[in-house]
Amino acid sequence: MSGELPSMAPLNALLGQNKQLRMDFSRFMLNYEFAIDEVMTKINILRKEFEHLHDYSPIEHITSRLKSPERLVEKLQRLGIDFNFESVQENILDVAGIRVVCSFNADVYSVAEMLAGQADLEVLNVKDYIKNPKANGYRSLHMIVRVPVFLSASVEHMCVELQLRTVAMDFWASLEHKIYYKYQTEIPAPLLQELLEAAETAHQLDVSMERIHEVVRGRHPQAGHVDAPSPQGADL
Ligand code: GTP
Ligand code: MG
Repeated sequence: MSGELPSMAPLNALLGQNKQLRMDFSRFMLNYEFAIDEVMTKINILRKEFEHLHDYSPIEHITSRLKSPERLVEKLQRLGIDFNFESVQENILDVAGIRVVCSFNADVYSVAEMLAGQADLEVLNVKDYIKNPKANGYRSLHMIVRVPVFLSASVEHMCVELQLRTVAMDFWASLEHKIYYKYQTEIPAPLLQELLEAAETAHQLDVSMERIHEVVRGRHPQAGHVDAPSPQGADL
């Protein structure tokens, strides 16, 4: 989710020098930007309200990105889909993406539930790679949601891909992503094995940290060796 400027070459290949088409494309992408704004506002409201009520933040950070024209063209070609606005809107559900990085697994699910419970957010698809991790060890909760965007003369219902994960999962996924890009499909087997083990370690860290957190907040009956909450405990 970087802020780098997209290359214009794929856009040129896609739209040629047709000025009207280029303007329509910008206008089309603007709707996705609005959709990101809508969902970001919802998440920020949940975050602030939660902090106010519980003196604790379930969300560590939030990032968003619009798919670059380059990636859009590549995905359309990969899926064998012709370029037109309707086909993109129907088939490419991750033009707008938001990543929510939470403190703990329980927070991932409660943020997802709170969003899913909102009347104007339609959940189209959920992939729970936390309960069912991918073979490489990847863990995250993915949701495709559709949100209405109220424009001057119409309402557009736009899809946004949400990825919710813990800090540890995010740390793992960003490294794995870099390695994947470095080696493309040729990642050496020992590295794959080590990545898988690292994913398991990250998961174990999540489980331990969540347990400690619950003990400190007094939600777990067995405190074990963890001391009673101190004034610093409020940071947790
Ligand atoms: P794409 O066509 O690549 O968008 O994937 P998909 O339609 O199969 O959807 P999926 O929900 O599986 O993945 C969506 C996005 O999640 C990807 O574009 C990545 O950003 C992220 N993702 C999925 N799998 C992995 C993974 O194994 N490693 C990392 N680092 N990210 C992943
Ligand atoms: Mg994607």
